[in-house]
Amino acid sequence: MNRMRTLSLALTITAIVSFLMTGCKGDPGPQGPPGAGSDAFEGFAEGIQCASCHNPDVDTTYFIAGRAYQWAQSKHANGGDSERNGSSCAGCHTSEGFVQRMNGETVTNQYVPSPPGCFACHSPHSRGNFTLRKATPVTLLSNIDGVPDATFDYGKGNLCAQCHMPRSTSPKMPSNPGATDTLRITSSRWYSHYGVQSQMLSGNGGYQFPGYTYTGNSNHTTNAVIMQEGCPTCHMAEQSYPPAQGTGKAGGHTMNIHYEVEGGGEVPLLTGCLQSGCHPSSFSADDMHLVQQGIEDSLDALHDELLSRGWITAGGSVNASSSSPLLITPAVKAGALYNYFFIEHDLSEGIHNTKYARELLASSLEELRKP
Ligand code: HEC
Ligand code: HEC
Ligand code: HEC
Ligand code: HEC
Ligand code: HEC
Repeated sequence: MNRMRTLSLALTITAIVSFLMTGCKGDPGPQGPPGAGSDAFEGFAEGIQCASCHNPDVDTTYFIAGRAYQWAQSKHANGGDSERNGSSCAGCHTSEGFVQRMNGETVTNQYVPSPPGCFACHSPHSRGNFTLRKATPVTLLSNIDGVPDATFDYGKGNLCAQCHMPRSTSPKMPSNPGATDTLRITSSRWYSHYGVQSQMLSGNGGYQFPGYTYTGNSNHTTNAVIMQEGCPTCHMAEQSYPPAQGTGKAGGHTMNIHYEVEGGGEVPLLTGCLQSGCHPSSFSADDMHLVQQGIEDSLDALHDELLSRGWITAGGSVNASSSSPLLITPAVKAGALYNYFFIEHDLSEGIHNTKYARELLASSLEELRKP
């Protein structure tokens, strides 16, 4: 069955369903058609009841309207980067490309793309439910020569890591270069793309300078709840706003850790932090901001060091191109440049893995300042 015909069939059925449902309230609606074959279109599960989700009254099963509204406030919906729709980008930046990638198909250019939405993370029509499209462990590419790829296995967070993962860079950062070696960088994007949160959380991907002692990771890396629930532990916890739990403004499908309240002011999402077995009830947004400030100060210091050496531009990219490469001798100092982008692009300002981020920053600064 081709895609257009299937879609118009779907629309016809929706019209019939809404007609039926105005006529006889409470009827769950007719059964949908059997699933389409091996076409890229995933079809409908056999026996699916449209009205169990397309519910014109109050939906107390899936809260689809509410969740769609949450999603509409997320950066997934409105970040604007779904124009990265070429075949090498669409696998993460568009729903269509992601579905292809998860189904093991070749990702193609997506000229009419939609951003990561319901049908990227779920497959409600083909499955008749909202299970996660994929939650098997994910391989995280290592961009450090000699350091093997890592396996990320954080339950529901495995879905997130399918996109929030590093991409390859060239050349790789050498793990233990000789004292007179030079690293030759020819790209202004000499970093592991932007989705490094999976690496940071799991304590992978940072450049560890030879001769330094690194003491490991923060609690988040091995926390039993986070190992199970993954990124949603914190990002999808429901916002509580007195008196009710759940506001749709942060957490949930917004995936945001704070929101701007009407009239100004920031409301933090602490539901994840305060759950039992995690932080004490006295834990506040100030505690979190204090950690972030410390990381931010070190990151600023590192930024200034890199800028003064001319390794990065004022605009924040690597000061290199194929016609004007950046040469770093001894090559080991490039580790500071590498770590700068790793921690900067994580965007949590140390929250995902405080100890790891702190020690990477401290050693980067120390190494860079060596004569
Ligand atoms: C398990 C839940 C579920 C079931 C069952 C279900 N749908 Fe949907 N459907 C959704 C969701 C979620 C959306 C996206 C809604 C949104 O973005 O607000 C959607 C969207 C649609 C759309 C709009 C397409 C688009 O891309 O926006 C059509 C048409 C549709 N469904 C038809 C049907 C028909 C016909 C059936 C029964 C054969 C059905 N659905 C059964 C969850 C479901
Ligand atoms: C299909 C790929 C994909 C999946 C799966 C995915 N994301 Fe994203 N995410 C993105 C992209 C792409 C962006 C940036 C969107 C933009 O800028 O247009 C983003 C942005 C975000 C942001 C906002 C970042 C910012 O800069 O403010 C958060 C938070 C986030 N994702 C969390 C999650 C979590 C948690 C999960 C798992 C439940 C997840 N994402 C799953 C692709 C994905
Ligand atoms: C493996 C998945 C993946 C692929 C492939 C990918 N991206 Fe991304 N990209 C992401 C994620 C996830 C983010 C958002 C990270 C965040 O905001 O935390 C992102 C963010 C970006 C941003 C930064 C947006 C901002 O708001 O700062 C740019 C620019 C970008 N991608 C461009 C591209 C281009 C161009 C391609 C193809 C050449 C591409 N991406 C391929 C996952 C991917
Ligand atoms: C970026 C990935 C992502 C996107 C996009 C997304 N979801 Fe989800 N959704 C999740 C994750 C992860 C969970 C599980 C949350 C949990 O268990 O804490 C979830 C849970 C749900 C649930 C609850 C399932 C249950 O059985 O209780 C529903 C319903 C749902 N999503 C609907 C939607 C709808 C509707 C959309 C589009 C408007 C959507 N989702 C878009 C990742 C996503
Ligand atoms: C322990 C709780 C926790 C876990 C687990 C967690 N995050 Fe975060 N994340 C945060 C906090 C807190 C911030 C900082 C938010 C802020 O400053 O407003 C953040 C920031 C981010 C950002 C930057 C955008 C933003 O909202 O500020 C992205 C993107 C992100 N996380 C993605 C992920 C992904 C993907 C995972 C899983 C690999 C993950 N996070 C796991 C707590 C968490």
